[in-house]
Amino acid sequence: METRLAECLGFCFGVRRAVDTVYEQIKTGKTIYTYGAIVNNEEVVRELSGLGVKVIESKEELEKLDRGSVIIRAHGVPEEIYRILEEKGLECIDATCPFVKRIHKIVQQAGSDGNHVVIIGNAGHPEVEGIVGWCSGGVTVLEEPEDAEKFVPPHGEKLCVVSQTTYNYNKFHYIVEIFEKKGYNSTVVNTICNATEERQRSARALAAEADVMIVIGGRHSSNTRKLYDICREECAETYFIQTLDDLHLELPKAVRLVGITAGASTPNKLIEEVQNYVRINF
Ligand code: F3S
Repeated sequence: METRLAECLGFCFGVRRAVDTVYEQIKTGKTIYTYGAIVNNEEVVRELSGLGVKVIESKEELEKLDRGSVIIRAHGVPEEIYRILEEKGLECIDATCPFVKRIHKIVQQAGSDGNHVVIIGNAGHPEVEGIVGWCSGGVTVLEEPEDAEKFVPPHGEKLCVVSQTTYNYNKFHYIVEIFEKKGYNSTVVNTICNATEERQRSARALAAEADVMIVIGGRHSSNTRKLYDICREECAETYFIQTLDDLHLELPKAVRLVGITAGASTPNKLIEEVQNYVRINF
C-alpha cells in the first residue's frame, strides 16, 4: 500500500512565515502576544500557549496592555491597530503576509485618489476587516454576486475593486462582469492568492486516484472543510481529522493508495505524524 501527500498542502507561505516569526520571537525571551490566534488550529495555539505566547482577542484588550511585543498575524489588521501599538509604546512585529500588505497599499492609494473601494469577500473575516481599516475613503464589502447586482456606486464614484485573498476565482470574475455590464467605471485588481486554489487542485487530483483520503485540519477551518468536500466528491472514503487521535482507520487489504492532504493552518509536524502512522500500521 502506498501513502502519498498532495502536492500542495498545509501552511501557505504567509502562514508559515507568521508562525516561524512567533517561534523566533519566543527564543528572545520577550513577552510575546499575537493579535488574534496566529493560525486557525487549536493544536498550534495550545503549543504556543505552553511556550508562554498570549493571544490578544480584541482592540479593547490591546488598549489595556502596557508592555510586551505584539505579533500581527498573516491576515493583517486595520491601520488603527498600528496606531494603538505606537501610542502605547508596544513593540510591533509585523507578520502580515506580503500579499495582504499589497492589498492594504492598493486600497489606501485608491481612497486618496478619490475612488470608492469595493472588497469582494466575507465582511466578518479578519483579513477583510483589516483591509477595510486601510481604506481612507468610502468602502463596500460584497460577498455574493447578488450583492453586486444590488450595488450602486455612491454619487457615481469611480470604483477600485479588490478581493479577499481566499475568494473563489470564478465568483470574483462573475462579479466583475456584473460591474462591466452595468457600465461602472472601475479599476479591478485581482488579489486572490493562488495558494488556496493550488491546494484544492492537488487535493482533487490525489483524491481521484486514492482509495482512501485523509484530510487534516482544524475543526473551524473553512479551507479544510472545503478540501474535505472536494475530496469527498472524488473519493467516498474520505476522513476529516484534527489530530492523529481522531484517526480510527480500518483499511481493507484491497486499499492500494492512501492520500493525505491538509488545510492551510495544519503544521508539517502533524502531517508527518499522520503519514508515519499510516505507513507503519498498514
Ligand atoms: Fe498569504 Fe496567500 Fe497565505 S495571501 S496568508 S500566502 S493564502
